[in-house]
Amino acid sequence: MFAARRALTGAVQRRAFTASARDLSKVTVLGAAGGIGQPLSLLLKLNPRVTDLALYDIRGGPGVAADISHINTKSKVTGYDPTPTGLASALKGAEIVLIPAGVPRKPGMTRDDLFNTNASIVRDLAKAAAESAPDANILVISNPVNSTVPIVAEIFKAKGVYNPKRLFGVTTLDVVRASRFVSELKNTDPVDENITVIGGHSGVTIVPLFSQSSHPDLVGDATLLNRVQFGGDEVVKAKDGAGSATLSMAMAGARFAESLLKAAQGEKGVVEPTFVDSPLYKDQGIDFFASKVELGPNGVEKIHDVGKLSGEEQKLLDACLADLKKVNISKGVAFVAENP
Ligand code: NAI
Repeated sequence: MFAARRALTGAVQRRAFTASARDLSKVTVLGAAGGIGQPLSLLLKLNPRVTDLALYDIRGGPGVAADISHINTKSKVTGYDPTPTGLASALKGAEIVLIPAGVPRKPGMTRDDLFNTNASIVRDLAKAAAESAPDANILVISNPVNSTVPIVAEIFKAKGVYNPKRLFGVTTLDVVRASRFVSELKNTDPVDENITVIGGHSGVTIVPLFSQSSHPDLVGDATLLNRVQFGGDEVVKAKDGAGSATLSMAMAGARFAESLLKAAQGEKGVVEPTFVDSPLYKDQGIDFFASKVELGPNGVEKIHDVGKLSGEEQKLLDACLADLKKVNISKGVAFVAENP
C-alpha cells in the first residue's frame, strides 16, 4: 500500500515537474530578506507551480536564496543584491512580482505613517519592474497599500506600459483574518468560512460583508468588525516594536500568488478580493477599489460589484469611499507627480 502511494505521489510530482513551456513560472520577490519576504519565499519554494524563484533585497537576498535553494523541490532559486544588474536580472522574465519591500509599523503607527519611507521604495522598484518586467503581474504588499498601488500605476503609465489588469494590491490577509475570526466565534473550520472583504487595506477602508456569508447575524457585531479592521494592530502590539504581521502575511501573499498561477494555467472560477484599478466607483473619483475579482491568464478577468449590502454595511462602505477618495489614492498619485 505504501509502495502504491509512493508510486502515485511520484507520478503526481513528475506531472507537476514536467511543466510545459506555458507552465514555466518565474516568481520574483522584492524585499525577500525581510520579515515577510523570507517566509513568503519559503512558501513559494514549496509551490510546484513555481519553476524559477528570484529573491532580491537591498541586503541578504543571496543568503536567503542559498538557504531556500537546498529545499528539495523542483524550482531554481537565485538571489540578487543591488549590484548594477541585480534588480533587472531578478525581474527579467517574471510572471509574478511580489513587493514586500519597505518598513513595517511600530506600536502606535498607522499604515499611513509609513508612507514617506515606503512611497519612494515602491516607486523605485516599480520603475525597475516597468523596465525589466513590463508584462508581469505586480502584487503590492508594502503599506500603505491604498497609496502604494496608485504609485505603481503612475510609474507604469509614465513608462507607457500600464496594464490595469496586472496590478494588484494584496488584501488577502484581511480575508484570511476575517474567516479565522468568524470561525473562532462560530466554532467552525475556517477553511469553510468565505468572508468577502471589500474597500481597501487600512482601518475603516476594510469592509467585511458578513451579510453575504453564512453568518448574516454577525453584521453589527462591533467587536468582530473592529478585529477585522484593526487586526494588524494586535500583531504590532504583541510584537512590541519588532514589526507587524509577517508569517500570516506570507501565507496570504503565497495564497494570492497561487491563485494567479492557477488562473494563468487555465483554472476557471478563481476569485480573490483584491485592490485593483476598478470601474466600480470611478464616477466618484475613486480609481482603485478592492472587491471580488475573478483571475485569468491575463490577470484580472472580471471585477465583481459589491453585491447586496445591509444598511450598516452601506454606511461602512460610505466611510471607506470617503477615506479612499480623500487621502489614500490621491496621495500616491500626488507623490509621483511631485517626486517622479
Ligand atoms: P521588514 O523590515 O522585515 O522587511 C522589509 C525588507 O525590505 C527588508 O529586508 C529590507 O532590506 C527590504 N527593502 C527595503 N528597501 C528595499 C528596496 N529598495 N529594495 C528591496 N528591498 C528593500 O518588513 P516586513 O515586516 O517584511 O514588512 C514589509 C512591508 O509589508 C511593510 O511595508 C508592511 O507594512 C507591509 N505589510 C503589508 C501587509 C498587507 O496586508 N498588505 C501586512 C503586513 C505588512
